[in-house]
Amino acid sequence: MKFKNPQSPLRYPGGKRKLAKAIHQLISLDGREVETLVEPFAGGASVAISFLENTEAGVILSDLDPLVSAFWSVVFSKRAVELAERVADTSPSLSLWQDLRNSSPRSDVERAYKCIVLNRTSFSGILHHRAGPIGGLDQKGQYKIDCRFNADRLSDRITTLSKFSDRVVVLRAQDWRATLHFVRKGWSTSKTRESLLWYLDPPFFEKAERLYDYSFGAADHNRLRGQIDKLPGRFILSYDDVAASRQRYLKHPGFLRINLSYNARIDRTERLFAGEILVSDMIARLRKRSVLPPMGRLFVFPERGLASRLRVELGSTSVAGKMKSGIMK
Ligand SMILES: C[S@@+](CC[C@H](N)C(=O)[O-])C[C@H]1O[C@@H](n2cnc3c(N)ncnc32)[C@H](O)[C@@H]1O
Repeated sequence: MKFKNPQSPLRYPGGKRKLAKAIHQLISLDGREVETLVEPFAGGASVAISFLENTEAGVILSDLDPLVSAFWSVVFSKRAVELAERVADTSPSLSLWQDLRNSSPRSDVERAYKCIVLNRTSFSGILHHRAGPIGGLDQKGQYKIDCRFNADRLSDRITTLSKFSDRVVVLRAQDWRATLHFVRKGWSTSKTRESLLWYLDPPFFEKAERLYDYSFGAADHNRLRGQIDKLPGRFILSYDDVAASRQRYLKHPGFLRINLSYNARIDRTERLFAGEILVSDMIARLRKRSVLPPMGRLFVFPERGLASRLRVELGSTSVAGKMKSGIMK
């Protein structure tokens, strides 16, 4: 069956739409099916959506941001109908944007609505409290506030995703360590843990404090580094490819660079551009079996066009000329 690329209703800097296919490819190389995917840094939840639409797996979602976690808990519940109707009836304007920015929603549906409208009308989908509206406060920018808000399409997407509700558990807004605690308790035997996959996509190392209201400091990144090899089940971790992530993970046997990159606008003047790294126990195993390239080589994601956009040079060898679809050996 053809792989269905995930389409999240939320826009996220570093959203993992393109990475999802590579993740499924990795799992099939590893050879064991995933019964439950855990995504404790949900954001736009692209990888979770790819599991719902391409596999039979169950999904556990969580995010520390209360707007984001409320959004997913409403989407995967009966209240999705109410949210979908409200979204369908929305025509974004600067005054709606300002009202929502200043609002303190009391119910999950209100929070979910605030989340999707601000996400689709602010620069790069950034939910940061200082992020401005698309088009600027004077609406003199090239793109206006409603340019990313196709009300009917978003509403349909919410309705479609809600049909997977019985396969999804959304935990309340909480730190990833609380999610780890929850999973450890529920999946207590080594047999049940074999069927788990963690997909961890923590806040970027660089500029994260400008992208998310809930970002990571050095101590948070270190704590995650300390836990990564003790997680119950398999794991895939993705990060921006910068000195700080390389410093922590370069020596991990499951460290891999991948030919994906972000290009997200932070505000009217600044962009974020970074490559991507993956770290996974599956990568370490596949490397031992020589299925994946050795350390320092690139994992080429099999999608047309990406190869030619590659800007990464590894060591003295330019890899751009050697790329083919599939995994580079
Ligand atoms: C890089 S984004 C995730 C993007 C997501 N993978 C996607 O496809 O859109 C990181 C997310 O982690 C959340 N976050 C930040 N600190 C957290 C923490 N301590 N525990 C759980 N989530 C956290 C942020 O709110 C943000 O939504």
